[in-house]
Amino acid sequence: MYFDSHAHLGDIKFKDDQAQTIQRALDAGISLTLNPGADMESSAKAMKLAAQYDHIYAAVGIHPHDVKDMKAGDLDQLEAWTKDPKVMAIGEIGLDYHYNFSPKEDQLKWFQAQLELAHRLGMPVIIHDREAHGDVFDIIEKTKVAETGCVMHCFSGSVEMAREYVKRGIYISLAGPVTFHNARKTREVAADIPLEWLMIETDCPYLAPVPYRGKRNEPAYVIKVAEAIAAAKQIPLEDVAHTTAENAKRLFRI
Ligand code: NI
Repeated sequence: MYFDSHAHLGDIKFKDDQAQTIQRALDAGISLTLNPGADMESSAKAMKLAAQYDHIYAAVGIHPHDVKDMKAGDLDQLEAWTKDPKVMAIGEIGLDYHYNFSPKEDQLKWFQAQLELAHRLGMPVIIHDREAHGDVFDIIEKTKVAETGCVMHCFSGSVEMAREYVKRGIYISLAGPVTFHNARKTREVAADIPLEWLMIETDCPYLAPVPYRGKRNEPAYVIKVAEAIAAAKQIPLEDVAHTTAENAKRLFRI
């Protein structure tokens, strides 16, 4: 059994065949999925979907792209939503200096505020870090969220960085890029980091793994991510499936 730890099932790209996509994942053995929010609307949608399906869980949070529209009251709403029994984490939250769709000051302010909220509530967090490795690391340290649980989603940093996170009890989640031809650095992370600290995800509908690269991604394809990790570590696929699922269950307390 596989656990897709990060799937945006409420995305517009699934609007015509969401139920079929969910069924295909179940048929392929992906028996647990976590669907994170990215803004207030998608967080509310993630909770709704989680209420419909036993095996789908939700996280609520505001992605760095969208924090420019965030208001102080949104934090109270996020906190209220965490009382829902299917909301297992705050996420996805973080910093994105690649696109900078929100001003950097807004990103820093709201990232820290959401981390502080998670820490106060004792909830794990799902972190998005794109070209902001140093600042993300510093804020994670400062807010001590490793104490309540943390995963670096779609990790794209170096082996050295991954080791620093693992040393602090933070999980590393790998996505489709680990299957890409040019992703030598990410395969090094897959080979180096102990399986006990790895999780797998699709981040669908984005980042489809080889051989689906460029197409719409979906949870059923998370097996390709697991296969790439198994190949990098030269261990059975079954071990990757089992241990990464146990890791996600432990982090999200499922
Ligand atoms: Ni995502």
